[in-house]
Amino acid sequence: MPWWKSGVLYQIYTRSFADSDSDGTGDLQGIVDHLEYLEWLGVDGIWLSPVTVSPNADWGYDVAGYCAVQPDLGTMATFDLLVADAEERGIRVLLDIVPNHTSDRHPWFVGSRFSRGAARRDWYVWADPKPDGSAPNNWVSSFGGPAWTLDHATGQFYLHNHLPEQPDLNWWNEGVRAEFDSILRFWFDRGVAGFRIDVCNIIVKDAELRDNPPATEDDDLEEQLFGQRAVYNANRPEVHDVIRRWRRLADSYRPPRILIGETPVPIATLVDYYGDGQDELHMAFSFPFITAPLEADTMRRIVEETEARLPPGAWPAWTGSNHDMSRFASRWAGGDPRKVRAVLVMLLCLRGTPVLYQGDEIGLGDTPVPREDLRDPLGIRYWPAYAGRDAMRTPMPWRDGEGGGFTDPGIRPWLPLVASARVNVEQQRSDRHSVLSLARDLIALRRHTPALQTGGYQTVGATPGVWAWRRGDRITVALNMSDHDATLQAGSGYIHIGTDRGRDGESFGDTLMLGPWEGVVTESP
Ligand code: NOJ
Repeated sequence: MPWWKSGVLYQIYTRSFADSDSDGTGDLQGIVDHLEYLEWLGVDGIWLSPVTVSPNADWGYDVAGYCAVQPDLGTMATFDLLVADAEERGIRVLLDIVPNHTSDRHPWFVGSRFSRGAARRDWYVWADPKPDGSAPNNWVSSFGGPAWTLDHATGQFYLHNHLPEQPDLNWWNEGVRAEFDSILRFWFDRGVAGFRIDVCNIIVKDAELRDNPPATEDDDLEEQLFGQRAVYNANRPEVHDVIRRWRRLADSYRPPRILIGETPVPIATLVDYYGDGQDELHMAFSFPFITAPLEADTMRRIVEETEARLPPGAWPAWTGSNHDMSRFASRWAGGDPRKVRAVLVMLLCLRGTPVLYQGDEIGLGDTPVPREDLRDPLGIRYWPAYAGRDAMRTPMPWRDGEGGGFTDPGIRPWLPLVASARVNVEQQRSDRHSVLSLARDLIALRRHTPALQTGGYQTVGATPGVWAWRRGDRITVALNMSDHDATLQAGSGYIHIGTDRGRDGESFGDTLMLGPWEGVVTESP
């Protein structure tokens, strides 16, 4: 069983993890300094949001140098140290790769926009205006507004599915494909265990740049808001050629490297990114899951549908938070500690790889950021209708007090930090009943219980509001996702770990009682 199937992944937003040099910004050395914590927590791999060179129009997701480290995050020597130290602790390092677009300051784009005949002109998507001078087609950016910007110097538009500062690469160009092969190799050769691939479903666009059809009432909210269905600028069939190419490259390494896709698509499309189960992504992030309401029926159906549609051998990934989505402690749990605990049981006990986002393990919720402190271009652009993504990117609270152990007292963190007496690592680490202890104990249980690592998923019939499932032959996970007491006919057994830690080790007969929002992992004889 490969490590990434049996293990737990942990996403680090480096800029907000730990500041080692007192400049208010988290950095690579800060991660090195906290590897002991990650080893103690029991995670098997860390995925770092981009640490490559970027002018930060979109905080690292506008890359100006793919094979170098962003200076305020550290140096290549520190990166190498991180990989080596992590390896000694049994932790693999995964990076984020952003192949859909670069920064507009990347030398490739600077050269490309210089003239129509520039050597790398075709590395980006350039097109003539329509006869009336308007944009080449009707595509809208996923950040809102037109996906095209006119470049006056050469009289053509360039495509950007995000900010104008993020020009899209032209993935029909073989030079682009070959260049990214080299980038993947560069990091694989440094010991990187794999990549999370940014918006991996949209990198190839329709070669004819056809207009997207208008959205209908049946389309999802986002498409209706944008007024069109992203038929021609996303999910093109040819994207699978690129993913298969990367998979062959990843598989050529020993040990094989892994690819996890950011795939914001419905389940029926999501499973296509696994190819035949062996030849495309190792894992694809599920947006139907992360955007679902925290309801037993809804979530159960999503998991069942995913399980039913995945090709043989394919492996899901489950996550409740990331640097773009509201944190689950707020979005799903609304700050209710019972729900936070139940979600941790869910994430860590489904079939598939759990991907925790830094802070999930202490039940960290969103930290609202005042307008004057906003950093995310989306919050700045859309305030107050949408406050952007800063609330889920605020610094990690390591301990109570000024600076929260993230940075030194007296230093202004790059985003505000709300240190609270309860939601911090130091306090929770010493409390057997804390959320952190629950997360760590669940991770440890998973590690020592093959059925939780690799056993199949099977729904167990339950009363409304309760979601229960079997892993392997003897492990049952049950979540009462309601505000009422519930009972489950689960056969006799005992509780390994419960969200109410007072019940750990408790035996039960045929009927298992669960309080509101209580979750348990049980074993039957
Ligand atoms: C998805 C990333 O997670 C997000 O942070 C970024 O803004 C967009 N892709 C564009 O790269």
